[in-house]
Amino acid sequence: MNRGTKLPSVRPEVERITDDVIAVRRDLHRHPELSWKEERTQRVILEELGKLDLEDVRPIANTGATALVKGGRKGPCVLWRADIDALPVPEKSGVPFASENEGVMHACGHDTHAAIALGMAQVASEARESLAGSVRFVFQPAEEASGGAALCIQEGILKKPNVDRCLGLHISADVPVGEINVAPGPFFASPTSLRITIKGRGGHAASPHQSVDSVVVAAHVITALQTVVSRTLPPLETAVLTIGKLEAGFRGNVIAESAELRGTIRTYNDRVRDRMVAKVEDVVSGVCAAFGATAEIKHKTSCPPLVNDEAVTAFVEEEGRRYFGKEARVSRGMGAEDMAYFLEARPGCYFWLGARNEVNGAAGRHHDPGFIIDERAIPLGMEFGMRLIEGSLVELAG
Ligand code: NI
Repeated sequence: MNRGTKLPSVRPEVERITDDVIAVRRDLHRHPELSWKEERTQRVILEELGKLDLEDVRPIANTGATALVKGGRKGPCVLWRADIDALPVPEKSGVPFASENEGVMHACGHDTHAAIALGMAQVASEARESLAGSVRFVFQPAEEASGGAALCIQEGILKKPNVDRCLGLHISADVPVGEINVAPGPFFASPTSLRITIKGRGGHAASPHQSVDSVVVAAHVITALQTVVSRTLPPLETAVLTIGKLEAGFRGNVIAESAELRGTIRTYNDRVRDRMVAKVEDVVSGVCAAFGATAEIKHKTSCPPLVNDEAVTAFVEEEGRRYFGKEARVSRGMGAEDMAYFLEARPGCYFWLGARNEVNGAAGRHHDPGFIIDERAIPLGMEFGMRLIEGSLVELAG
C-alpha cells in the first residue's frame, strides 16, 4: 500500500494513546525475550496494566500476565489474547529501536501484539461503564516454543468469569495496512515433528559390500517420503511433509552406520495426520527393509490445528468490511499457532492484521532478521479489536 492511501480513522480515545502504545512497542522490541524467559516483558506489561483501572491484574503461566475489565452491566465475557515472546534470530532490520539482546529478536511481531492489547485494555477500562459484560486480556508467554496457551488454559484463564468467545490478531508483514486476512474453519495447521533414525552397518568406504550404507538408505527414504502427500492423500486434502535436517557420517571415506532425519508434518485435522504418520512408518520401514537397514520413528504433535468458528468469523469479516471498507483476504497457511488451544476450548476467531512494510525488502518475511512492520497498523489494530469486543458483547448478550 502506498503511504498516501487513506486509512480508516480511529476513535479519539485510541488516537490519544497511539504514541504511547508505539513507545511501549518499541521498548519491547528493543528488549526481546525468548519463550518462558519473558521476565522483563512481563514486568513491563504488569506495570502498564497497573497504571489502569483494571481488575484481576496478575502474572499467569510463569511469564505471562492477565487483566480483567468488568463492564458497567452484567453480561458475557470475551477474551482477547496477545502473545509476547521473541525468537532466536539476530536482528538486521535497521530500525533505531533494534534488539539489544544479542541473537534474540521480535521477528514475528509479538511486541506489537502485546502493545496493541495494552492499548485496548486502556480503552476498554475507560469505556467500562458502557460495556455489558467483561473483557479478559491474556498476555500469553511461549507461543514460539509452544506450551504457553495450554498452560494459561490449565491454570483456569477461561473461568471466573467463564469466557464465551476468544479473539486475537497476528500482525502480518505480508498483508497491506488497512486490510485483514481471515478464513472460517482451519486457518493454521497442526504441526507434528518427525525424528527418523536409520540404522545400517558402518564400514570402509572402499568395501560397500560389507556394509549397509545408511546415507544411501536415507536418500531413498527421503525420496520415497515425497509420495506420502502426493500419492496417499485424496487430492483435496491439505498437508505438508518436509524433512529439514539430515545428519550422518564422520568423514568421506567411512560408510556411515546411522543417519538421522528430522522433519515436520502439517495438517488441518487428526484424521489426515494419523493417516500420514501411518504411511510414513510404512514407507520408512519398507524402504529400510529393502536395503537391510532398520529404522526407529518418533513423532510428536505439539499443537492442534487452529480452527476459526464459522459464525464468529462471519462476524469478524462483516466488521472488517464495515471498518476497512473492503473484503478480507482469505489466505490459509500451514504455519502453527497455539491460539489453536483457545479456539479449541471456546468459539472464536484469529486473524491477520495487515502491516506490510516495503522499506528494506523484508516485506512478507516473518522470522527473518530483516522483519519489519508498518506501525500505522497499531492504532488500526486497537480500534478494530475494540470494535470486535464491543460487537461480540452485544451479539452474545442478544
Ligand atoms: Ni507469531
